[in-house]
Amino acid sequence: MDRNIALEFVRVTEAGAISSSKWMGRGDSHSADHAAVKEMRARLNSIEFDGKIVIGEGERDEAPMLYIGERVGRGRGSKFDIAVDPLEGTTITAKGLPNAISVLAAAPRGKLLHAPDTYMDKIAVGKGAAGAIDLDASVKDNIHAVADKLEKEVEDITVIILERERHKELIEKVRKVGARIMLIGDGDVSGAIAPSLEHSPADMLMGIGAAPEGVIAAAALKCMGGEIQGRLKFRNEEERERAVKMGLKKPEKKLKIDELARGDTHLFVATGVTDGTLLKGVRFTSTGCETHSIVMRSKSGTIRFIEAIHKFHVKRKK
Ligand code: FBP
Repeated sequence: MDRNIALEFVRVTEAGAISSSKWMGRGDSHSADHAAVKEMRARLNSIEFDGKIVIGEGERDEAPMLYIGERVGRGRGSKFDIAVDPLEGTTITAKGLPNAISVLAAAPRGKLLHAPDTYMDKIAVGKGAAGAIDLDASVKDNIHAVADKLEKEVEDITVIILERERHKELIEKVRKVGARIMLIGDGDVSGAIAPSLEHSPADMLMGIGAAPEGVIAAAALKCMGGEIQGRLKFRNEEERERAVKMGLKKPEKKLKIDELARGDTHLFVATGVTDGTLLKGVRFTSTGCETHSIVMRSKSGTIRFIEAIHKFHVKRKK
């Protein structure tokens, strides 16, 4: 993995975060997302590398930019597969709520799962509880195993769950076990990463979210030493067929972290759009703005936080 390209990729997520954050609180999730996609694509195409989008804004026929299979970069140099979520938290941004990020994961060709834009049942923990979870085990067994591994009482375990109708039963089960719950409105990439953070507010993530976000989170957890397991959840036969076409021989199979993100050559980059547990959001100043990003490499395990001051060089209207 090219170390220098990491900084180039930070410029990409910074551009996505700055452009989408201008739409913060304006009630227009589509424009916020579009702004991030447009900027990130332009930045990616200015980098000297041979990139291919494997997780992006959807299929070619439904996304004009950053679609699955699109080639990005100048076409010369190192070859990378790119998983990108220009705005993870479109609704969050539209409402001005916490935890929206602009995010990208990169790996040498074939190392990231080519997942269709469907759902995924996920379970994720930080380094301290890695090895204790099993997507096939019961909610009770998983929580108890994580509590044992972390040497905590079950009632002190906090589980992050997306607040969705489909999670009614899961929430009831967690409550019955006696663990605590942190319901989030959106943003399960941040939710999957949260248990891996120092002084984390949570110990695990459970529940169904988007599949692309599961792959991106897997790249992050590869860098942090955490664990995630997932299983694709199709809404219809068409989505299932798409997964088969993408190379998944057993589309309903439990996917371990090594199947979501193979090997140890991953790069994860994110920039905060709105303030969150992982990153601060974009702050606009009289001359430009400030951004807060994270860059992680799985090979070295290095985690860098980058605070950048951007000057806009624009004349303000009198
Ligand atoms: P967007 O940024 O695309 O709106 O996704 C936000 C998100 O909350 C993801 O973090 C999560 O995986 C997914 O949506 C859950 O999907 P749904 O809102 O359909 O339940």
